[in-house]
Amino acid sequence: METDVIIIGAGGAGMMCAIHAGSRGKKVLLLDHAQKLGGKILISGGGRCNFTNTGASALNYVSNNSHFAKSALSRYEPEKFIEMVRARGIAFHEKKLGQLFCDGSAREIVGLLQAECEKVEAQFKLGTKIEKVSRIEGDPNLRFEIITSHGSFKCQSLVIATGGLSIPKIGATGLGYELAREFGLKLVETAAALDGFTFGDAETRSLRELAGLSIDCKITSGGVSFRENILFTHSGLSGPAALQASLHWRVGENVEINLLPETEAFPWFMAKKREGNRQIVKNLLGELLPNRFADRFAELYFSHTQPLPQVSEKLLAEFCDRLHAWKLTPIGTVGYSKAEVTRGGVDTDELSSKTLESKRVPGLYFIGEVVDVTGWLGGYNFQWAWASGYACGMAL
Ligand code: FDA
Repeated sequence: METDVIIIGAGGAGMMCAIHAGSRGKKVLLLDHAQKLGGKILISGGGRCNFTNTGASALNYVSNNSHFAKSALSRYEPEKFIEMVRARGIAFHEKKLGQLFCDGSAREIVGLLQAECEKVEAQFKLGTKIEKVSRIEGDPNLRFEIITSHGSFKCQSLVIATGGLSIPKIGATGLGYELAREFGLKLVETAAALDGFTFGDAETRSLRELAGLSIDCKITSGGVSFRENILFTHSGLSGPAALQASLHWRVGENVEINLLPETEAFPWFMAKKREGNRQIVKNLLGELLPNRFADRFAELYFSHTQPLPQVSEKLLAEFCDRLHAWKLTPIGTVGYSKAEVTRGGVDTDELSSKTLESKRVPGLYFIGEVVDVTGWLGGYNFQWAWASGYACGMAL
């Protein structure tokens, strides 16, 4: 079979690209090895899909080239996707910080994309194993051949939208990276991101006792800070703040946690001292932080049990410094079985920021998560999927 455009990967980016290429009269075929459409969308946002973030800009993405995403993001702003959602009558709400979620189910977003693809007569071939992708020389109208479990397909333009490595059990593979390599494109090293942190034995043991506890804090990693909750787990640290921090963290680095972003601890303790408060520091800390955490933290870092008036200012100041800058050294993150995204991917130097076309291989495009553009937690990754899919679709 011959067609104008083949898109490998019918996730958010692939379907968005199909909608816009199709609306411009291109014959589009989407190939995907999964049996079910939009698996990632279905599990996203706890089943409600955080489909965009109203404040999305290139500042919310990590990439070797921080300018790369600007072009696509500025031509497909969140409002454009919101218009599609409204037009289909999907109810949604802002949860916090510009994060938009469906009131009902993520299935509505998959339904929206599928319906728009059908309107422009894009064809889907699900359950299709990709066996070989090669270039055809000498015919500008048919430049690629894709051999699959459902036969051979030829096309003028080939779009790779296979996403990242996260959640292999719903179909994530490294095919996009393998194809990039085969076509001679450079890759930026990949790593699981938006993922929980794991710790060495000693730290894990002491944190494990706090499993289930969540604290509002400011966490800093790789020079970037986030104010949200951390959640202690049996394997380490999770919760939105830790997931955000993982995006900026590199092996060997610390993460720094300000446990009291709203209260200056030292003046607070000194005021208690002046009032003649005779409690021990551990008990007083329970007025600022959950008791279970205050107990554990004081056991780890403040073994003195004298009443407050007998605690020296120096000791108190050191303890307060630690409350505002608690340094932990993760040994890693949980990994692709849980991570929301894959950081790194196809090097943006290889692609046009306007069209996402390969500079080396005319007619070959990479969109969505497979590219070295990774968004923060909070709807930014879908916004990149929509924006890069749109930019490519409009260029085909
Ligand atoms: P995506 O992964 O969606 O699609 C890739 C497609 O390629 C899949 O259909 C896959 O089957 C197919 N494919 C892969 N390998 C193939 C092969 N070898 N052969 C054929 N087909 C192949 N983001 C956000 O903004 N808001 C949110 O709420 C969430 N929530 C969330 C929760 C969880 C649990 C995860 C894991 C991720 C999120 N994300 C998110 C991230 C978001 O889901 C992700 O960034 C986008 O889905 C990426 O879209 P793509 O279309 O690039 O890849």
